[in-house]
Amino acid sequence: MVKKVIIDCDVGVDDALALILAFHSPELDVKAVTGVNGNVTLKQVFENIQKVLSLIQPKNKPLIAKGADQPLKGKTIYAHSVHGKDGLGGAKIDRREGEEGWQFFPGRADELITKMARQYPDEMTLIATGPLTNLALALQRDPGGMGKLKAVAIMGGAVRTRGNITSYAEFNIFSDPLAAKIVLESGLPITLVPLDATHQVSLTPQWMENRVKPINNSISKFIIEATGYDSTTHQFRNMERIHLHDPLAVGVVIDPTLVGKERLSIDVGTQEGEHFGKIVEGLGKSNIDVCFTVDVKSFLELFLSRLG
Ligand code: BDR
Ligand code: CA
Repeated sequence: MVKKVIIDCDVGVDDALALILAFHSPELDVKAVTGVNGNVTLKQVFENIQKVLSLIQPKNKPLIAKGADQPLKGKTIYAHSVHGKDGLGGAKIDRREGEEGWQFFPGRADELITKMARQYPDEMTLIATGPLTNLALALQRDPGGMGKLKAVAIMGGAVRTRGNITSYAEFNIFSDPLAAKIVLESGLPITLVPLDATHQVSLTPQWMENRVKPINNSISKFIIEATGYDSTTHQFRNMERIHLHDPLAVGVVIDPTLVGKERLSIDVGTQEGEHFGKIVEGLGKSNIDVCFTVDVKSFLELFLSRLG
């Protein structure tokens, strides 16, 4: 059965790859794409959602909406060093006038999320690939609506591994730990896709040369530009490899058997200090499945097969 999904994202290079994977997968029907402050400003995120949809040109145009432009509490941080000034590594995308691949929703992201959850009770899966601010706002405004979601997949956290923004914290959780705490304590049926899993899946120069470049279409060209891959030096802009963090959160919705999970209750460090944004394993009852192992080959094959 085709799964109806909403993607809440902070586009970002790997968010763009997640959108491509989702829209190119017949297992999913992407009904909406919502934006949240994260890798770049909300304004830039919203611009990037439209750019990526212009590239994808989906047959069924999703609704799009802007969400939070700052975390529930604390300061905003951006990830320009990873995603470039514009969040898409400076990749150029031609926007064809009159051929927009979306429809604007006349309201905020948290309204759209709960509206869709109520419209399709127990059918919608929400995939979050940015900070969890929009999800927390939706829970605060309409917990009953959020309770009608079938499932939630979240890219975030470093559970039994080092963080990527501090030694303990992962970017999406660190960007808004209070929102993460609200979401992870909500009792929603969550699959958490932390760095423990996403660090196992990445594009390497070898994959770029052998599998991405030969595709030679607008999508593969975008991936080469956005990741800054240079085929003479076989290097990416400022990284050795490109972790497919956000695409894996889409992958687990397409095929849950790609990952091995453990049910854990989760707490989030919200106090200023070295444990700010850290995920802590708890003992209580829980509805959260945390991904630790990945069938790496199957996931990469799935991802690459959807770029054509
Ligand atoms: C997460 O942080 C962002 O920079 C990526 O898009 C991904 O969602 C990885 O920590
Ligand atoms: Ca992201």
